[in-house]
Amino acid sequence: MKNEEILEYLKKNIKKKRYHHILRVADTAEKLAIVHDIPADKVYTAALLHDCAKGNEGSLLKDYKNIIVNEWVSLEEELKEKSLIHGPLAGIIARDVFGIEEKDILNAVIYHTTGRENMSKLEKIVFLADKLEPKRDYPGVDKIRETAQIDLEKAMLLTIDNTMTYLIENQELIAVITVKTRNNILRR
Ligand SMILES: [Fe+2]
Ligand SMILES: [Fe+2]
Repeated sequence: MKNEEILEYLKKNIKKKRYHHILRVADTAEKLAIVHDIPADKVYTAALLHDCAKGNEGSLLKDYKNIIVNEWVSLEEELKEKSLIHGPLAGIIARDVFGIEEKDILNAVIYHTTGRENMSKLEKIVFLADKLEPKRDYPGVDKIRETAQIDLEKAMLLTIDNTMTYLIENQELIAVITVKTRNNILRR
């Protein structure tokens, strides 16, 4: 029921190409949820929502101006940056448009680009599915896909290392929260 409403919202508000990416992420996440024995319906919902704000950041920032002032207090500064803000905005839509209160789903949506420390299995699966959906194609992706079937943490580490290598090679910013996520995995 809720998923149908979300799909309607996505069809209306998200560009076609991204809409199809979202469907592939949801499908990938659902399969991983079954392999790792966590509720597939929750994972599917979180995955459908993960990019529901992407491309509409400007207008959403205006629409939700009053809510955002309160919401942003506890949020890491860097999540408010242009490339990452669609996560927190999607969290607001998940809660205020679709009435989702479950922290696990909201966190999976908010932190899907950066990760965070002490992620739940559900969060890890949404994070990974976004980077491993079938149309993702980069060196090493198949190895990470295989690893994700067995060990979510190891797959997270490989994904983060990949991303960081790319960011360093291109002299781009690295989110501190992602460094913390990586250290958190390595310390376990
Ligand atoms: Fe995203
Ligand atoms: Fe995505």
